[in-house]
Amino acid sequence: MSFLEQIDKERIPQHVAVIMDGNGRWAKRLGKDRLEGHAMGAHRAREIVDAANKIGVKYITLYAFSIENWQRPESEVSGLMSLLAKSVASQFADLIKYNMRLMTIGDNSMLPADVRQEIEEACRKSAQNTGITVVIALSYGSRYEMLAAVKKMLHKYESQRFDIDSITDSDFESCLYTSGMPDPELLIRTSGEVRISNFLLWQISYSELYFTDVLWPDFGEEEFYKAIVDYQRRERRFGKTSQQIKA
Ligand code: FPP
Repeated sequence: MSFLEQIDKERIPQHVAVIMDGNGRWAKRLGKDRLEGHAMGAHRAREIVDAANKIGVKYITLYAFSIENWQRPESEVSGLMSLLAKSVASQFADLIKYNMRLMTIGDNSMLPADVRQEIEEACRKSAQNTGITVVIALSYGSRYEMLAAVKKMLHKYESQRFDIDSITDSDFESCLYTSGMPDPELLIRTSGEVRISNFLLWQISYSELYFTDVLWPDFGEEEFYKAIVDYQRRERRFGKTSQQIKA
């Protein structure tokens, strides 16, 4: 039986986050340039978005470029930037047709102007769509996001002098890039690395983590469904006991 057939349609995660890792190693194995690995990775990104949409996932967040990635060689950074703009213009050109909404999280101000314009336009055009939300993490770092949230709150305090001791989780969440989104129930990381790399640290507090050795350019639709099936076999307890969950 295929993994797709094994999925319980009643327990689809609302939000899946993905660390798309292994493009460079994939390219190296095939004697190709690293950028070819990223290009193949961009194709997979679209395939996985379609797979997520097909089973009813509402949000998918793809870690496309971290703040730390700015430190990569200039040629790789500029290659990745133009790939991102090209991908949005080509692979994600039919967002409207499929009722998908595109969003980004991260510090867009650091992006080259043409890339930013391309992406912002696609986000604007698709803002009213009601199907799956595709969130691209671009120039994103979780510590940076949390620090920005703290600064936002302090600026608000300067003008509103609210009661500091009554600040809640949701007050803080409303200052994050992901404000209004459900937390990911599932985080997938490909390529055999078992770490989080500064991705959605606040939001994945209770997420199920799925690590696979498959390199991102090889991570096809069935691999995605396999991760969903694995997630559905787990018991999510949120700090409670198994008995409490079953009661
Ligand atoms: C990590 O692999 C991957 C990246 C830094 C870039 C990911 C970007 C894409 C897949 C393009 C996405 C496009 C869209 C539109 C979402 P790595 O280079 O760190 O691989 P390595 O660890 O094997 O060297």
